[in-house]
This record gives sequence, structure tokens and C-alpha cells, in this order.
Amino acid sequence: MSKIKTLPLDSFTHKRGSVEPQSNIIAIGSGKGGVGKSFVSSNLAIFLSNMGYKTILVDLDLGGANAHTTLGEGQPKIGISDYVGGKVGSLEQVAVGTKFSRLRLISGCNDDLDIANLDLESRSHLMSGIYDLDSDFIVLDLSAGTHQSTVDFFLMASQHLTVFTPEPSSIENSYRFMKACYFRSIKRFERQLGLQPVITDIMQNKEPLGIKSPYGLMREVSYREPEKGMQLFKKMEYLRFKIVLNQTRTYKDVDIGDSVKSVCNKFFGLPADFIGHLEYDNAVWQSLRKRRPLLLEYPHSRLYAQILNIAKSVTAERRQLKTAV
Ligand SMILES: Nc1ncnc2c1ncn2[C@@H]1O[C@H](COP(=O)(O)OP(=O)(O)O)[C@@H](O)[C@H]1O
Ligand SMILES: [Mg+2]
Repeated sequence: MSKIKTLPLDSFTHKRGSVEPQSNIIAIGSGKGGVGKSFVSSNLAIFLSNMGYKTILVDLDLGGANAHTTLGEGQPKIGISDYVGGKVGSLEQVAVGTKFSRLRLISGCNDDLDIANLDLESRSHLMSGIYDLDSDFIVLDLSAGTHQSTVDFFLMASQHLTVFTPEPSSIENSYRFMKACYFRSIKRFERQLGLQPVITDIMQNKEPLGIKSPYGLMREVSYREPEKGMQLFKKMEYLRFKIVLNQTRTYKDVDIGDSVKSVCNKFFGLPADFIGHLEYDNAVWQSLRKRRPLLLEYPHSRLYAQILNIAKSVTAERRQLKTAV
């Protein structure tokens, strides 16, 4: 029998102590492993700290934690498992300094801990711990796939970055991942808005109704329940995928970013942003081997400028969020 418990739908909005998270949380997700999530999250974290922001990188790929390696650090002696296991009372206590001033790492290294089998209480405890962290930015490096736990950690963020490569299987898996996030959010809001019976009925009849996309579902909801449908559309606006295309090799590859963005618009009926591409560069593994992050080792590479662009896009959003409050 599966040990996996289902987290309550509103659990990813649970915020202990504070009404809002203390920091701007950026989640990096993808449908497929090996596309560069850890590379993007660690370098994004390095660049943000270099821009003057207090930043914490949280390695939530608990089964295969390697953020310390991509930062060029040794394996920390403490980490998430000490917090989840109750050895320490706050995540702040397991955030270790790195060679970059203003950047700390919360390591996910522990062979016994896997994000997929964290029990309900531990997951909720971990989310509260993340919300309680005090930093300008918190970057969440996630594991691949659509496990509910991964999706919930992705959705707890205020900025949702999806990384994929130009390969068809990576693009396909990314849509699958985004779709899982989208439906998980709808589930959360359908309960709040009392739309469960309507949505269940539509889903049971989606073939005769000709519904082929999440957007089709939303339109049918709006047709049947105009006011609540509008509220649902409004609530879903918080989920705005930011597309990062990694390991591009040609100009044609780069165009895929815009295509995915417009498919996202049509499929989900929500705006998405293509916030940048990162080209394939041997500098990545060379710097990994030397344990010297790109920012230090290849400051004149094109990749450096491309990561900087992504970091700027993320900080621009933070300023907008602050102004909106
Ligand atoms: N832009 C890139 N150019 C060259 N190699 C890359 C690039 N991005 C990632 N890689 C390499 O791809 C592999 C997988 O990257 P990683 O960040 O660990 O993926 P994920 O976290 O999605 O599983 C690593 O060996 C990494 O060095
Ligand atoms: Mg990884």
C-alpha cells in the first residue's frame, strides 16, 4: 500500500505566523530530469546575491540533492532533514553560508528523505519553514515530474519558472507539468468558490462537450456559472508560467520559447512569459568540474549575460509585486 498521503488542497497557502511569506519565493520546476533546473536555480541564486539581494537556495530535490555541487560547495553537514526530523526548530538554523556573500544554502542531502514520501505533516511543516525564512529571495530547486508534492512546492512560490530544453520529449513533459500545476490550482479554487459539482460534471462529460484543454474547461465553467467563472479566471491569474529554455544550440531552437509561450496562452487561457534562453555551453561542465561557478570562472561568456537577463527579469517582477502591495 502506498505510504503517500494527500496534502490538503489549501496547504500550499499555509503561512505560519505571517499573512504573507517573508520573501519572494521563486520555484524552478520541469517535467523532466536533466534539463538544467539545478544549474538554473543555483546560478540564478548566485546572480541575485551578486546583485545585492539576500538569497537562500533551497534544495528540494530531496532524492537527488546536488545544489551544493552546482554552487561549487562541499556537502553541508546539516540540512532539511534536521529540520523535518525535529533536530532544529527553524529552517534558518540549517541555512549555511556559501562562498558568495548574501547567499545561503539549505541542503536537501539525505538518503532517507524523498520528496515523494514526505508525510503530510512533514510537508506542511517544511512549507511553513520556507514561508518563515527571512531573505529577499528564496529559490526552490525542485525535483522533476508531476508528483503532487512537487507541484505543491512549485505552487507555493510567487514566481513560477519552468525549465525545458528544445527536445520534443522535454517540451511534452513540460506541458504535462504545467497542466498538473494548473489543475491542482483549479482544484484549490473550485472548493473555495463552491464549483466542485459543476467542474466534476464537466470533467465527466468532457468528450461530448468537446473540451480539449484546461482553457476549454474554464470557458465551460464560465458559461454555466458566469459570476463564479469570472472569479475563477481572476484567481488563476496568480499562476503565470515563466518559461526558461535551456541548452539551445541554434537560433531556431530559441524560437521554441515563443511557440511554447503562445501554446500556453491558448491551452491555459493565461498569459505566460518567455523570460530567456540559455545556450548549450561546455563552460557549464567545465566550471562544475573545477567547482568554480560560471559567474567566477566565465564572466565574459554569453551564458553569463543570458543568466543575468533571467535574474533581471525576476527582480523586475519583485519590484512590481512590491509596488502593487
Ligand atoms: N546550458 C547548459 N549547457 C551545457 N550543459 C548544461 C547546461 N545546462 C545544464 N547542463 C548540464 O546538464 C546536466 C543536467 O543539469 P541539472 O541542472 O543537474 O538538471 P536537473 O536539475 O534538471 O536534473 C548537468 O550535467 C549540467 O551540467
Ligand atoms: Mg536537479
